[in-house]
Amino acid sequence: MEINREKLKQQHAKELKMFEENHPKSKALYQEASNYLLQGVPLNWMVRWSSAYPITVVEAKGAHLKCVDGMDYIDFCLGDTGSMVGHAVDASVKAISEQVKKGTTFMLPTEDATWVGKELQRRFGLKYWQFTTSATDANRFALRMARAIFRAKGDTKRSKVLAFNFCYHGSVDETLGMVTPEGKTTFRKGNIGQCIDPSVMTKFIEWNDVDALEEALKDEDVIAVICEPVMTNMGIIHPDPGYHDALRALTRKYGTYLLIDETHTICTGIGGYTREYGLEPDIITAGKTLASGIPVGIWGVSEEFGKLCQPVFDSVYGFAKGVGGTLAANALTMAALRATLSEILTEDYYKRNIALATRFNEGVQSVIKEFDLPWNTKQLGLRTEYWFKKEPARNGAEAYYHTDLELDWYMHLASLNRGVLMTPFHNMALICGSTTEADVDKHTAVFREIVQNIL
Ligand SMILES: Cc1ncc(COP(=O)(O)O)c(C=O)c1O
Repeated sequence: MEINREKLKQQHAKELKMFEENHPKSKALYQEASNYLLQGVPLNWMVRWSSAYPITVVEAKGAHLKCVDGMDYIDFCLGDTGSMVGHAVDASVKAISEQVKKGTTFMLPTEDATWVGKELQRRFGLKYWQFTTSATDANRFALRMARAIFRAKGDTKRSKVLAFNFCYHGSVDETLGMVTPEGKTTFRKGNIGQCIDPSVMTKFIEWNDVDALEEALKDEDVIAVICEPVMTNMGIIHPDPGYHDALRALTRKYGTYLLIDETHTICTGIGGYTREYGLEPDIITAGKTLASGIPVGIWGVSEEFGKLCQPVFDSVYGFAKGVGGTLAANALTMAALRATLSEILTEDYYKRNIALATRFNEGVQSVIKEFDLPWNTKQLGLRTEYWFKKEPARNGAEAYYHTDLELDWYMHLASLNRGVLMTPFHNMALICGSTTEADVDKHTAVFREIVQNIL
């Protein structure tokens, strides 16, 4: 069955009105903030929700969040993974509060750092670890280190990074670009302020295309391939069977490092997709939820890579700039990491939540089937997503050219009006340790109602 576009427009107008009627306090606060904050928000992304202005949060606990207008929401967005473990989880609240009383940042290690390093080695299989204040920084620093290693060896031919079309790895310059359907690497709409043409730094190819991968690597001018093991920023796009084997074999054949970004795919299991599927990257990066919402990024490297870092450190006077930051690896972050890894993100945690994510996914599928909608759903661990396309996309371009912004905005807003928060810029839902079956079933009922209203 097709969406009735006329009804969609009318219903969307009704939803905008309903939002405004129900959120007068958020509106007043937003108007006041507009005198002091660019676009009325502390971060421009916060006006990218589906409503005319954002709801102002009062507090959140577990899977629920309350706004200043007194509405309660089931939070399936969870800070777009920053709070994947849930809000204000008791174990992390305790550890964070205790550390705050003992000091938060010293530019010196605490004992927690050793514990966390050992645990990350156990989970991800890579030997040496470093910490940053965001996953973006982790990617940036790991790529810089890879480049520095080649330079230290006198290899000046390698300068480029290989990334996948419509990927997202944070605001890392090398990854802000795209390849057009005609095969031209260029700026990607929406990325602002870049000074260097992306084709100077990066080769972009489509995910799941082994021939394009070999073609891009064979000149031996690539430092590292950076990828999510499953694409998650253009919907969920799984690798084809055998794709990861080819990726690893070709990166080894052409002497290129393989960087796997587990920032979102940590939804798969305790050691991300890498552990679950036995991948063998040289570098792993992640961040977001690992410190229960305290800013963090991590990057880990193989023993061999780690040894090659030493000559790089030895070659600089003082300390290596370009990788680091005064607040990185601070004591508060390390305490939060330790609590999150030891007490929250356990095997049992994933087992429970993946089962609930399956229930969520089946609920959405049942509505798609009932109304014979040309949409599909995907699941990766405790993360699910639906996309307005009948056949699942195999790469970024296939997904991107099937985005339907009109429908997207409506679905988000209509869900929000009914107390269900979905992730903006995605139709994505995350399940945390406090999400209940009732929460999931409420989403299914809301999803059915709002779909029915536009048929
Ligand atoms: C795969 C991936 N890597 C890195 C990042 C950057 O994370 P942060 O914004 O915490 O730096 C994101 C953000 O969404 C991401 O999706």
